[in-house]
Amino acid sequence: MLIETLRKNHDLTDEEFCTLLETDRYDEELKAAADAVRREYYGTDVYLRGLIEFTNYCKNDCLYCGIRRSNQNVERYRLTEGEIFACCEEGYALGYRTFVLQGGEDPYFTDERICAIVSEIHTRYPDCAITLSIGEKSRESYQAYFDAGAARYLLRHETADPAHYAMLHPTEMSCENRKRCLYDLKAIGYQVGAGLMVGSPYQTTQNLVTDIRFMQELKPDMIGIGPFLSHKDTPFRDKPNGKLQLVLRLLGILRLVFPYVLLPSTTALGTVHPLGREFGLQWGANVVMPNLSPTAVRENYMLYDNKICTGDESAQCRGCLERRVSSVGYQIVTDRGDVKK
Ligand code: SAM
Ligand code: FES
Repeated sequence: MLIETLRKNHDLTDEEFCTLLETDRYDEELKAAADAVRREYYGTDVYLRGLIEFTNYCKNDCLYCGIRRSNQNVERYRLTEGEIFACCEEGYALGYRTFVLQGGEDPYFTDERICAIVSEIHTRYPDCAITLSIGEKSRESYQAYFDAGAARYLLRHETADPAHYAMLHPTEMSCENRKRCLYDLKAIGYQVGAGLMVGSPYQTTQNLVTDIRFMQELKPDMIGIGPFLSHKDTPFRDKPNGKLQLVLRLLGILRLVFPYVLLPSTTALGTVHPLGREFGLQWGANVVMPNLSPTAVRENYMLYDNKICTGDESAQCRGCLERRVSSVGYQIVTDRGDVKK
């Protein structure tokens, strides 16, 4: 009954969402409904996003993150423009039609530099979507990147509850500014990705419901979720990792609340369980984001311990994912993979 109601109304009461998240009673039904809805909207298609982790310098100090500025044990790197373009060239040949430029908040990459990179990629690959994931900026900066050719922006809200947000971040960061960024991005015309870590320290089931409520208001085009995973050089080194099953349940719920949404089956999910990404696809996810960064720097973009794929060449990841995706009955397509609303 609950799952049918959710599928039909795209909504439940807070108590009902909590029941779905906290018990395994509805798991099979939820998984089946999520898969049916993803097939209705996207068939068996899985979209690829080529992830280019172009800098691990970061001025922020998020308590969970392995590349936080206080971590002295990271070897810091920045890709040159030439190296970034080489990643795109390799990615294009491998069938990628979306490039995600992700990095820490690195002051070296001024708006001018970001715009120059975006506009060059846009000129070279007019049939590709350029996605940025470079953190909190002013509305003017977001507008400049958009005008240069960026069409999408990934900025996980992390948690929509201000008190919980304050437990995960230093005092100079705020939930309010994070949300402001997301609304600015939407107003400018980006396809926007919000999202959160499941099982982040101090997270309650009610926090997850608050996240759903926030996203119902924001109406993001993409939602990135994965388990929180601890990193040995952060204040959260001893915190338990997020649970696979809870991530899967939330994926299923999100597919039913937002039938059209682009949902990645994340690297973190593949780290928490060897078949995590396959499970994610079976619970409603329809996007995978293989790494396109040069192998030499991958070890240094270690957001959490034991991150997978750090030793693999881009072509290996492409082939590996092709096999993984088809093993569960879906197929990778060469497509920009825009949202179907
Ligand atoms: N600086 C940009 C930003 O803040 O959006 C992009 C890079 S940031 C490292 C990308 C995402 O990594 C964050 O939104 C966060 O959810 C995720 N992340 C960071 N540390 C993590 C951890 N320990 N476990 C799981 N995910 C993590
Ligand atoms: Fe990178 Fe499997 S996706 S090796």
